[in-house]
Parts: sequence; structure tokens; C-alpha cells
Amino acid sequence: MTPTAPVSSVPPLVAHGLEKAYRVGRGRLPVLRGVSLVLCSGELVALMGASGSGKSTLLHLLGLMDRPDAGEVLLDGERVDRLGAGAAARVRARRIGFVFQQFQLLPELNALQNVLLPRRLALGRLWWRRRRAETAAARRLLEAVGLGERLRHRPTMLSGGEQQRVAIARALVSRPAVLLADEPTGNLDRRTGHEVLTLLLDLARAHGTAVLLATHDPAVAQACDRVLRLADGELVPPDAEVAPTP
Ligand SMILES: Nc1ncnc2c1ncn2[C@@H]1O[C@H](COP(=O)(O)OP(=O)(O)OP(=O)(O)O)[C@@H](O)[C@H]1O
Ligand SMILES: [Mg+2]
Repeated sequence: MTPTAPVSSVPPLVAHGLEKAYRVGRGRLPVLRGVSLVLCSGELVALMGASGSGKSTLLHLLGLMDRPDAGEVLLDGERVDRLGAGAAARVRARRIGFVFQQFQLLPELNALQNVLLPRRLALGRLWWRRRRAETAAARRLLEAVGLGERLRHRPTMLSGGEQQRVAIARALVSRPAVLLADEPTGNLDRRTGHEVLTLLLDLARAHGTAVLLATHDPAVAQACDRVLRLADGELVPPDAEVAPTP
């Protein structure tokens, strides 16, 4: 497979000083207190930290599913954190892949239709001209994740590991420069989780995709190029690592 991420000196994902607090009743719960990071092309980075430390919150900000209270998110050098919901959804569909713990496939669509959904969203009216080529590309990706025989299966007809493989194909179908994964193996048994993770990391490497992957699993973190840890609302650099949390 040829790498698709453009060779460029601009890192695909940069965050500066991200802050986020949730309003709870009359109080305010600060979760992120100034998080900065740079994700370079093709690198695989694990995001660790205790439950409740803000990993999902950070991934949601980076994935434009929520807005920071302060700070900036840059995709390929372009500021994207202040976009409206519609523009954010389009940027996400084109340029960011997201894999969730709960798969998040649409139940009424089959595997192929689920994978094609971000393409339809990204292409708008162009979809009708491009749909044959897009469908062929989605089929190839589903074959690459071992689901060539499951194209017309709906999520309820698929095992957990198969559903997550559909979700991985969906996340990569737009050939995004950045893939965000929130405990992608958390709902799978150990062996299936390991297979799915290996597949995700192999595909990401083959596509030159930068990956930020939230995980509690030290074995998963070890398969990555570096580890960042969230503690007290801030990222601890890897050289300040003590021992991975179990
Ligand atoms: N929508 C929300 N409203 C209020 N508080 C929230 C909301 N979402 C998350 N929180 C709180 O923010 C903190 C960080 O949550 P987050 O889901 O980011 O943690 P996490 O590191 O992903 O944890 P886990 O490892 O359990 O998935 C938690 O204390 C959580 O209770
Ligand atoms: Mg989480």
C-alpha cells in the first residue's frame, strides 16, 4: 500500500494549551488544565491515565466533537477548534478517523454502508459521481480487515471483534492523516482485542496515519512509539513515566 499522508513538515495534529471544565449543577469540574501535544505523521502514540483523568475528553476535543474552553487545535496547521457543528462534522469526515470503545456503527446500515457513510458525508453531491469508485475502495478495506464475506451484514449480525473491524475500516476509509482511538479493544476479549489492535496499527502504519490511542492496557501502550499520560489535567511527558497503570 502506498502511504497517502502528504509529506510535509507541518504535523498533522497540534494542540496548544487545551482547557476543559464540565458544568455540573452549579459547580465546575476542571478536567483539562492546559494540554499541549504534537502528533507527527505516521507515529503511534498511546494516551494513558487513570479512569476519569480526561482521556476521552481530550480525544473529543481533538476529534472536534466538543470545543475546548481555551486553547487551540490545528489540523495540518489549520485552526479547527472554533468551527460550527456542520463544518466540524465535514472536517472530521474528511480528515480524522475515530474508533470508539462501543463501535458506534449505525444498526440499520450494513457493514459496507457503515464504512461508506463518512465518504457520503464528505463528498456531498459529488457522491453520486464517485460512488462506484468509493464503494470499490470500501470493499477493499473491508477485505483488508478480513470481512470480505460480511459486506451485507448489519452490526447485530456481526461479532464484537467484527464490528470493531468495520469501525476501523470506517475510520480509515477517508485516508485520514489522524486516527483517534478511544479504548478500541476495551470491549473485546484479550485475544480478539490483540488481533484488532494489530490490524489497526498495521493499517495505520501502511497508510502513514498518525494515531493517538487511549488505553489502560500497558501491552497496548508498549506496541506504540511513545506514551503520554494524563494526570491532574496535564500531560506528563514520557520521560516522567513511572510504571504503567494496570
Ligand atoms: N458530559 C460530562 N459532564 C460532566 N462531567 C463529565 C462529562 N464527561 C466527562 N465528565 C467527567 O470528566 C472526567 C473525565 O472524564 P473522561 O471520560 O474524559 O475520563 P477518561 O480518562 O476517558 O476515563 P476512562 O478511562 O474511565 O474512560 C470524569 O471525572 C467525568 O466524570
Ligand atoms: Mg474514556
